[in-house]
Amino acid sequence: MTDYERITVTPISGALGAEVGGIDLREPSDDATQAEVDRAFLKHHVLFFRDQQLEPERLLAFGSRFGELNVLQPLVGPDGLPEIMRVTKEPDDDYAVGHVWHSDAPYAETPPKASALYAVEVPERGGDTLFANMCAAYDALSEPMRERLAKLTAVNGGPYIYSERGGGSQFSARDDARTEGDPVFSTAVQPVIRTHPETGRRVLYVNPAHTEYIEGMSQGESAALLAFLYRHGSRPEFICRFHWRPGSLALWDNRCTWHYAANDYPGQRREMLRLTIKGDRAFYA
Ligand code: SIN
Repeated sequence: MTDYERITVTPISGALGAEVGGIDLREPSDDATQAEVDRAFLKHHVLFFRDQQLEPERLLAFGSRFGELNVLQPLVGPDGLPEIMRVTKEPDDDYAVGHVWHSDAPYAETPPKASALYAVEVPERGGDTLFANMCAAYDALSEPMRERLAKLTAVNGGPYIYSERGGGSQFSARDDARTEGDPVFSTAVQPVIRTHPETGRRVLYVNPAHTEYIEGMSQGESAALLAFLYRHGSRPEFICRFHWRPGSLALWDNRCTWHYAANDYPGQRREMLRLTIKGDRAFYA
């Protein structure tokens, strides 16, 4: 007997990520099927669904099964839906949104629980997304290092990934609409190690895109420790790589993963739809 009766769940690497089959995301899920998807999500941290046909309203309905959706934009989004963001790279764009390891929005007091990305148009080759398992990264640290990190907090900010260098040119339409109160310009203090609120697992919770410094340390100490943690967190043993096709959807647990958009498809177009699901304040216990 397998762990799942309503869906199929096939891991795509030793680290994290599983492809889910036997489900049409256009249809509402019954409770038993949703319970299996939820279980697979907590176990594998990233779920991938292939060959789905989701217009924006159906994507919203899918996301709502996992919690309340964030409104991502101060103005109505491109489809008249403020919860959906189009992430597009045109053939002559140099930058790709998210081509640096990160988790989503740790600069918010309550960072998202999860994010979903749906492929509308993908390059013939390249444009993969990589994911890294921050529970595994934590587990692989020595006990003295874990003890040291457990007491630390870090300041996380939005600007880098939204800057020109971080790919922010993709967000120019949103820039026009931004106000001073836009959360993307905020900072939040987060624990360096957080406890996953559902599984109780400990998670390495700093990332190269958003973590500015560790509180209470000198600039040199903080930079050296973060550099070690970034090298450690991006070790190949903690990573999976997903190759998109039109109609593929990824749903990741933003509380315990990093992701990275490979920017390796010059001259080609890629268009994705993205949403995030509200989360809770990060804590260490
Ligand atoms: C993101 O960082 O949210 C975008 C990831 C991707 O486009 O692959």
